[in-house]
Amino acid sequence: MSLALTIEDVSAQYGRTTVLDRLSLAVQPGEFVSLLGASGCGKTTTLRVVAGFLEPTGGAVRLGDRDIVKVPPNRRDIGLVFQTYALFPHMTVFDNVAFGLRQRKVTDAEVNRRVGEVLGRVGLGEFAERFPANLSGGQRQRVALARALVIDPSLLMFDEPLSNLDAKLRVGIRAEIRALQLQSGTTAVYVTHDQEEAFSISDRVAIY
Ligand SMILES: Nc1ncnc2c1ncn2[C@@H]1O[C@H](COP(=O)(O)OP(=O)(O)OP(=O)(O)O)[C@@H](O)[C@H]1O
Ligand SMILES: [Mg+2]
Repeated sequence: MSLALTIEDVSAQYGRTTVLDRLSLAVQPGEFVSLLGASGCGKTTTLRVVAGFLEPTGGAVRLGDRDIVKVPPNRRDIGLVFQTYALFPHMTVFDNVAFGLRQRKVTDAEVNRRVGEVLGRVGLGEFAERFPANLSGGQRQRVALARALVIDPSLLMFDEPLSNLDAKLRVGIRAEIRALQLQSGTTAVYVTHDQEEAFSISDRVAIY
């Protein structure tokens, strides 16, 4: 399912430093919007507020019709992909991807079906039993992507997901990300500081 994301007059601070000052952004259901801006302008902070890791000091964040500001992060139904893959090193690819489903008490049969399906979609069907340490950077980032996709979230958010990859891989994986997002129709917010990447992957680019 895909829902609209509405950020309305959101302010956020760390201590007494204001980082976001009445930021507003509306993303349509199924739309892919990139956030582009200089280092330190507040892109990651914006994602942290939407994901629920930082409470805004003012304003509203809505997913569909629901105001999510008071909803705990694990109940927001958002798939996240970071620059560092944040995979569990002691778990296989399969278990890393299955983690979110098991937390949601999905049955074993359904976990097997959905993890198998999503690993196929990201081209990792053969790698289910590998550990993250035995994968390339691009493969690890595909695991992170599979983990975000498998919960079938209402919103996908990416924070510079390709920064740790070499230039050629960046272009390949960004095309895969876009193709998978179009296929699932999931609303997406994508942070990058690479202008060319932003314009090539998105429906729309928001500039700070
Ligand atoms: N935990 C924190 N405590 C205090 N200040 C912080 C904290 N995290 C970020 N900041 C400050 O808030 C501002 C915005 O940071 P943010 O991480 O959102 O920037 P960004 O746009 O994601 O930058 P980059 O492109 O370098 O990732 C910066 O000035 C940063 O120093
Ligand atoms: Mg950042």
